[in-house]
Amino acid sequence: MRDDAIVLGIETSCDETAAALVRADRSVLSAPLFSQLAEHAPYGGVVPEIAARAHVEKLDLLIAQALREANLDFAGIAGVAATAGPGLIGGLMVGLLTAKTIALVRGLPLVAVNHLEAHALTARLIADVEFPYLLLLVSGGHCQIVAVEGVGRYRQLGTTIDDAVGEAFDKVAKMLGLGYPGGPLVERRARDGDPERFDLPRPLLGQDSLDFSFSGLKTAVRHKILALGAEAGAARTVADLCAGFQAAVGDVLVDRVARALRRTARERPRPSTLVIAGGVAANAYLRWRLEAACADAGVHLVAPPLALCTDNAVMVAWAGIERLRLGAGDDQGVPARARWPLAELVPPLGC
Ligand code: KG4
Ligand code: ZN
Repeated sequence: MRDDAIVLGIETSCDETAAALVRADRSVLSAPLFSQLAEHAPYGGVVPEIAARAHVEKLDLLIAQALREANLDFAGIAGVAATAGPGLIGGLMVGLLTAKTIALVRGLPLVAVNHLEAHALTARLIADVEFPYLLLLVSGGHCQIVAVEGVGRYRQLGTTIDDAVGEAFDKVAKMLGLGYPGGPLVERRARDGDPERFDLPRPLLGQDSLDFSFSGLKTAVRHKILALGAEAGAARTVADLCAGFQAAVGDVLVDRVARALRRTARERPRPSTLVIAGGVAANAYLRWRLEAACADAGVHLVAPPLALCTDNAVMVAWAGIERLRLGAGDDQGVPARARWPLAELVPPLGC
């Protein structure tokens, strides 16, 4: 694949409809995105049927907008990449079928992208990050530490045994009546809070495991709210609960990351970079805590800009470029998959 080749990326796995045009030399030509937040907010979470319908309504318009903004038509594109999983199956089918149609009509190579691989490879779009590196993927649906050894080569070191960390943020926000999605709202309230006022647990802290658990922490917050009664609604108390919860999450993430860095320090080649990805990586407090942990371990931290941490199509186009460069591609029969763990991926032939 030449450096001036342009790939169209499509993302529809959850509640963001997005299209992007990215060139193999790492320039982003256009990246329009429609967030369905307002559609789902009244329900306090993503409703799969509403999401799928919104993707159908918006995706064509976003692809047309991406082409217009980049001053291109389909003739200027060298490949099409769409998220094929994991995610909500209705939305995945909308995006993948659209990509298949464009690829078929225009005779272009198609890549069915794993959404987690797209998050994992984003770091290589924004910085010169060589394999292997460690990835902390923290989003609404995922919480895992992965050794990224190459395109299609992932070794999961630890994962959550119950809730994903973004899910815990969302649930705590809901309990406190803050709204949805909870992460940014909890972060904002936590800024004025005292993280020490409430004694909250740090699940699995200090244990010799790289797994995470957040459900006990979430339940502890619920018990505090119940015990506080009407006082739980006071602005000061909400801020203190948010700060306490966020600090507990920070302690857990830092403990697990430090442990993963120690464990992989003996490997050759040694991962010299920690990449954070997923919506929760947008949290400035958590970034600051992780930066300190990386500095202590003598490892670089790469944190994509906010727009590339949350779901987007730029990362999908980029994952497509990484795969097409290695000669990979998918045929028209490739399915959408609600469940598709990173460990099931295979490297492109010949690498
Ligand atoms: O990666 P993402 O956009 O979607 C997937 O889950 O794949 O992540 C969304 C999640 C939500 O749970 C949201 O509350 C959380 O990321 N999030 C945050 C912040 N911004 C988004 N969590 C903590 N702090 C934030 N600033
Ligand atoms: Zn995501």
